[in-house]
Amino acid sequence: MSQTYEFVVVANRLPVDEVVADDGTRTWSRSPGGLVSALQPIVRSHGGAWVGWTGQPGDAPEPFDTDGMHLHPMGLSTDDVDQYYEGQSNGTIWPLFHDLVEQPTHRRPWRQAYETVNRRFAESAADLTAAGGTVWVHDYQLLLVPAMLRELRPDLRIGFFLHIPFPPVELFMQLPRRAELLRGLLGADLVGFQRPLAAQNFLQLTGRLLGLDPQDDHVEYDGRSVTARAFPISIDVAEVEKLAADPGVQAEARRIRAELGGDRRLLLGVDRLDYTKGIEQRLEAYGELLTDGTVSNDDVVLVQVATPSRMRVQEYQELRARVEREVGRINGEFGAVGQAPVHYLFQSMGREELVALYLAADVMVITPLRDGMNLVAKEYVAARHDDQGALVLSEFAGAAAELETAFLVNPHDVEDIKRALADALHADAAEQAERMRPMRAQVRGHDIDRWARDFLGALGQPT
Ligand code: ADP
Ligand code: G6P
Repeated sequence: MSQTYEFVVVANRLPVDEVVADDGTRTWSRSPGGLVSALQPIVRSHGGAWVGWTGQPGDAPEPFDTDGMHLHPMGLSTDDVDQYYEGQSNGTIWPLFHDLVEQPTHRRPWRQAYETVNRRFAESAADLTAAGGTVWVHDYQLLLVPAMLRELRPDLRIGFFLHIPFPPVELFMQLPRRAELLRGLLGADLVGFQRPLAAQNFLQLTGRLLGLDPQDDHVEYDGRSVTARAFPISIDVAEVEKLAADPGVQAEARRIRAELGGDRRLLLGVDRLDYTKGIEQRLEAYGELLTDGTVSNDDVVLVQVATPSRMRVQEYQELRARVEREVGRINGEFGAVGQAPVHYLFQSMGREELVALYLAADVMVITPLRDGMNLVAKEYVAARHDDQGALVLSEFAGAAAELETAFLVNPHDVEDIKRALADALHADAAEQAERMRPMRAQVRGHDIDRWARDFLGALGQPT
């Protein structure tokens, strides 16, 4: 019998992405997104296994051990990628769970593929987990896995965590096969959300859709008790602080500032290129500040890092075109030879470079229209050991509930973004420190380890 593990994480993606070069050689790089940033330190510290996709269509490579983790790749065919990943996960569930920022598409073959792929993930987890072990399933791509896994392995403790928002009852009701999705989640012993309201929405739905009788933070279902609670996710604070204290990273921050024109104030955006992130609204506000003369290309520069994401999905291609057009327009209109008001980087980058940017930035601009948490906000705060810098943060990011002294904005209101940017640029050192200190204390007191301990403790797994 093959080796089994006491602790198994199941997520759509592995922590590493398979990269296939033009000559066919294959290498691994870090996967994009907050889920991987958050989970990697936990699986490593448990010596656990991780079931997930490599990011490339095709057969799964052999399982392998790396960095103290056992990685168990799942193969997705080109059709699976089309229908389960780009279709049902990112064309239906993602926009619907983000409050219809884009219109979701509903297709029957996508739902079928979603079910088939969820079953394969559940089967792999069932094979890989030791008797009485714990499986922690993650995110919207795998909503059916908890129930499928329970059917195969009733002996397991099963936890589920949703990294993105959970929609209000009326929105969830729009989903075809909604009861089945809800029953999928009810296969878990503990269902975790970013925000308390999300847990309430979920419990309320069990009453509305399945006629159950939720009480406080739990509901009885199928002879078991299922608990639903908020566990706001966080970051590996020690890792970010270590990088921020590194003399090489600090030198890089100084180099970036000098390169961009020593005295110019630096605004920074770091996001996956996703329509939930409010990148267009941010650019619009910045463009208007340049137009009305509140800021000028001589005193201010915006660096916008946009990580490529889901680039085969049409909405993402269209977003890219719109963002790049707007960057071009602003640079054309307000730039000078050798001095552009927007530096746009459509690429992923190493952790050192990212933290150097955080250290260099006077104002971090985070304006999602809807975001489960937003780890970039917490990373920026953790990096600022000097208590300097200003955070402009959308009220619609989960992080806003914890980072209350940020310059909070309604990203749907461009005037409000302009106001917050101007206020943040004008904040003197004392105001910056006054706002940054409580945010740093909050993030340092609630790091990723604590999040995992809270969740796994509530699940009844020794940590
Ligand atoms: P999401 O999960 O929606 O992408 P988050 O802000 O929660 O958004 O998490 C993004 C994670 O990806 C953070 O840990 C951030 O440091 C990382 N990241 C974002 N952009 C880049 C990039 N260009 N290169 C490398 N890592 C990035
Ligand atoms: C968000 C989601 C994750 C996802 C990540 C990157 O953080 O919550 O589940 O992995 O975005 O998206 P991708 O589609 O590239 O995996």
